[in-house]
Amino acid sequence: MVKAQLAVNEIIRETGAVNVIPCKLDLADTKSICHFFLTFLLLDLLKHSAPARVINLTSMAHSMGRIHFDDLNSEKSYHPVKAYVQSKLANILFTRELARKLEGTGVTVCAVDPGIVHTEVTRHMKSTLQMFVKAFSFLIRTPAEGAYTTLHCALTPDLRSGGYYRNCTLATCSRAASDDRTARNLWVVSCHLLGIRWR
Ligand SMILES: NC(=O)c1ccc[n+]([C@@H]2O[C@H](COP(=O)([O-])OP(=O)(O)OC[C@H]3O[C@@H](n4cnc5c(N)ncnc54)[C@H](OP(=O)(O)O)[C@@H]3O)[C@@H](O)[C@H]2O)c1
Repeated sequence: MVKAQLAVNEIIRETGAVNVIPCKLDLADTKSICHFFLTFLLLDLLKHSAPARVINLTSMAHSMGRIHFDDLNSEKSYHPVKAYVQSKLANILFTRELARKLEGTGVTVCAVDPGIVHTEVTRHMKSTLQMFVKAFSFLIRTPAEGAYTTLHCALTPDLRSGGYYRNCTLATCSRAASDDRTARNLWVVSCHLLGIRWR
């Protein structure tokens, strides 16, 4: 909670807002469908707060992904890259289906590729790869630069719901990420895995 409290202090200092409360949330059990579950938990609040926005962080790496319906949580075979690109593809498919389901509610949904950003994302990678990223960090976006497209999607009026955004503009995602049938199937399987009923 130390990181969270530092972020809270900064938000209060910068905005003057007083009602900023940090909460602990561990989504590790939900694996690749944690975005789905978090949105489910927040759904009523989002609808009541409309106009509201849901921004799912994805990556251009989604284009290398495939949804393995027979092993969605990589329990049969795990490879970190395979799992990552699948989860990034799942983020876009989830965004499309959620946007469709929330049509007319005033909740806008979009998927954002932040670009390559110097964050803590490499902390579980091999030390050689971490050193490589560090050496070339001057070519990589700073966290502030990496937030531009997210801010664009949070603040731009009349944003197209269900879209995939990169470099502060609507972009084209892969064919697999535009497949509405896969998006619907993934939705059903995700509800089943989490044991939830989407209202
Ligand atoms: N960095 C890039 O170059 C890049 C490129 C494309 C897409 N993205 C996407 O951008 C998003 C943010 O990544 P990042 O680069 O900011 O990575 P990061 O520095 O590793 O941050 C990940 C965040 O997720 C939280 N988190 C991780 N596991 C969690 C869990 N089990 N339950 C709850 N929260 C958890 C972490 O919380 P703690 O701080 O408490 O650990 C942290 O705040 C990711 O979806 C990533 O795929 C990043």
